[in-house]
Amino acid sequence: MRATSNLYESPDLLGEYMLFHYGSAADLMPWPAGPSEAVGFPVRTVSELIDPATLGEGAHGLDVGCAVGRSTIELTSHCSRVKGIDFSDSFIRAAKELLQKGSLSYRFREEGDSFRSATATVSPAEGSKAEFEVGDACDLPSGLGSFDVVHAANLLCRLPDPRLFLDRLSTLVKPGGQLLLTTPFTWLEEFTPRDHWLGSGDSEDALGRILEPSFAREHRKEIPFVIREHRRKFQYSVSLGSRWRRLQT
Ligand SMILES: C[S@@+](CC[C@H](N)C(=O)[O-])C[C@H]1O[C@@H](n2cnc3c(N)ncnc32)[C@H](O)[C@@H]1O
Repeated sequence: MRATSNLYESPDLLGEYMLFHYGSAADLMPWPAGPSEAVGFPVRTVSELIDPATLGEGAHGLDVGCAVGRSTIELTSHCSRVKGIDFSDSFIRAAKELLQKGSLSYRFREEGDSFRSATATVSPAEGSKAEFEVGDACDLPSGLGSFDVVHAANLLCRLPDPRLFLDRLSTLVKPGGQLLLTTPFTWLEEFTPRDHWLGSGDSEDALGRILEPSFAREHRKEIPFVIREHRRKFQYSVSLGSRWRRLQT
């Protein structure tokens, strides 16, 4: 089942995701009592899962469901070239503009109709290694190629048929390459019909059964994150992060 619509197109979500990916810790979580360990998620899904020692010079990376691209940029510290793909036109437009100009202003909600502005920046060195395109994780182009590292954060439970994406991974990740997956398993019928959920209480085991013919799990970590809706309202979640090694055979 291919994706047909995307709820990630609204200006409000663009602001939330620009802040989530590029905002300062103080803007994202302005309260001392808040979960400070949950900021910086799009950086940590790379830095806390990747094995840099086994990535050679000239490694190529792929970030599927990249949203506005912060993890794609983070992968450029380990790869000579990284492609970010997302189904949202508005997210990819913002990511491309940020690369092109080196900075991009965005606004995020304070309260009611009151907003604040901030600016996201990307260095020329990072920007020169990244590229972004619109695409469907359930129907990726056949000529996309294979990669030394594939990253997909909080994507699985937003897909209409996560198996289609998971089944494609054995050809997307080169033998010996790495798969960095993060998911909170927030199954919702508005994104994934019930009969396509990987599990219900047992999703981690189901994920292992699907990947294990082609991958071995090397690392597992709980990765908390916080998304700010407005100054006094936040979504707090804990994703399951894992690194999988593509088997040589
Ligand atoms: C929960 S967000 C996670 C974004 C980002 N990886 C992060 O961790 O912040 C899910 C992302 O998946 C994208 N998405 C939804 N369906 C998709 C599909 N079929 N193919 C590619 N991306 C998709 C959305 O546009 C959104 O950017």
